[in-house]
Amino acid sequence: MNPTSRGYILAAVLAGVFVLVLHELVSADLSKRNWEAMTEMVYSKAGEPFARNDALPGGRTQQPVLEGVVVRGEPPLGFGPGPDEAERAGRELTSPIDLEDAGVLERGAKLFGTYCAVCHDGAGQGRGLAVMRGMLPPPPLTSDHARSLADGTLFHLLTFGQGNMASYAAQLSREERWQVIAHVRKLQGQGK
Ligand code: HEC
Repeated sequence: MNPTSRGYILAAVLAGVFVLVLHELVSADLSKRNWEAMTEMVYSKAGEPFARNDALPGGRTQQPVLEGVVVRGEPPLGFGPGPDEAERAGRELTSPIDLEDAGVLERGAKLFGTYCAVCHDGAGQGRGLAVMRGMLPPPPLTSDHARSLADGTLFHLLTFGQGNMASYAAQLSREERWQVIAHVRKLQGQGK
């Protein structure tokens, strides 16, 4: 065998090995991880929200929300915090809840048990577990004062908080806040 044909055979064998190795590495089964070249392009680097980032304005990774940006699925409420706005909410907002829908009251009762009873207790008397352990007792939800608050004012209270009670806007969607309010009304004997 002359040296040229030996070279061809060697090249053919190497090419064969190369194809076999590639075949092993690059699988047609997309459910398995493939061989990855240049992983920086496969996985982009995620910045930590509070880490410094010189590429962005102010050197901050997390940028403030632009003015006018609307959270997806939640159109602007049109109310701000504060007692005046709470009163306006009482005049302008009405509950979209259908009290004939038994499922709504059931969900309201469940949400109340999860988020409110820890302070207000299941009957709304303000003697929940947290109060037993030293938390400031809330006023009873069955008082004349609580009864006199309009649905919209309660919605404002759950959205923005009031005095020693925090906002529940992060825990409860708007619909859920109205469901809880329906349950509060039931506790007050005003609802069904
Ligand atoms: C961590 C304890 C705590 C939790 C949990 C809590 N509240 Fe309150 N709530 C309070 C306190 C304290 C007040 C009195 C607020 C103030 O200073 O005006 C209050 C006030 C209220 C009032 C006004 C009563 C009135 O007569 O002025 C309503 C209505 C109310 N809460 C409903 C709810 C509902 C509904 C939930 C569940 C989504 C809830 N609260 C969860 C502590 C709590």
